[in-house]
Amino acid sequence: MQTTAPRRRTASAVFEYRSFDAPLGAEIRGLDLSRPLDDETFAAVRRCFLDSQGVLVLRDQRIGPEQHILFSRRFGPLAIHVLRQFLLPGHPEILLVSNVIKDGRPVGLGDAGRYWHSDLSYLAEPSLGSLLHAQEIPKEGGDTSFVNMYAAYLALPASIKRRIEGRRATHSYRKTYDRIAGSTYRPALTEAQKQEVPEVDHPIVRTHPESGRKALFVNEGFTTRIVDMTEDESDELLPRLFSHCTAGHFTYRHHWQEHDIVLWDNRCTIHLAHGCPPELRRHMHRTTVKGDIPR
Ligand code: OGA
Ligand code: MN
Repeated sequence: MQTTAPRRRTASAVFEYRSFDAPLGAEIRGLDLSRPLDDETFAAVRRCFLDSQGVLVLRDQRIGPEQHILFSRRFGPLAIHVLRQFLLPGHPEILLVSNVIKDGRPVGLGDAGRYWHSDLSYLAEPSLGSLLHAQEIPKEGGDTSFVNMYAAYLALPASIKRRIEGRRATHSYRKTYDRIAGSTYRPALTEAQKQEVPEVDHPIVRTHPESGRKALFVNEGFTTRIVDMTEDESDELLPRLFSHCTAGHFTYRHHWQEHDIVLWDNRCTIHLAHGCPPELRRHMHRTTVKGDIPR
């Protein structure tokens, strides 16, 4: 049955907000980001983002890099990615997530996110959220999946909740990078790049600073080891946590439409790029909002 989408109304804007029939995710239609939103409308969007459980799709945004950056900055200061070779010339706030090869060279990070992860979880201050704007989407494939890490935490057996309570885990960019280095998109990191990404550790369960709810904060891509646990115990427990999260019960799979912006919350979701046939072009712009120290 087709129902009319609920509307959210502010003094100067009316837009549609609809939750997906999934454990997380919602979409907004009828909002135009080509001009700056007034504070009240931005606050309404921010509430939608929280209500969405961490994935908010903003449909039909025909905007350029400046407007994408200005909207992203409303959420907080932006991070500049360590892979400088893949930043949009003139707009270093934008990371090119692209499989396009131009003059024999990749224009962007073509294999971004092909494993479950939360963006920048390997930094002392991981990202608050990311905004990925579709520029060119393939006819086939190219989906992105997201997991609701609030729900994943809640559904853990009590015995596992007890084992992870108060514990921390190590996150490392280099370990994953080194595993996939050598591909078209992954030249070895320079010494300077390595210095930028030392290992860090974070609580395994964090409290989201805005919702006040607990979320699991580990991911297969970057979390390598539970701190103060024997290696054997950590090697047994971490993979169980990973497979619990990604078994499919807490997942929304996004099939991209032209001009989508997907805004996801890196504090309470993880995501995975499914990839597409290499002969099809997929070209996206990503901004990444800085976040705070997980607690
Ligand atoms: C990212 C990422 C997923 C995708 O840009 O952080 O993981 O589907 N991308 O492109
Ligand atoms: Mn990512």
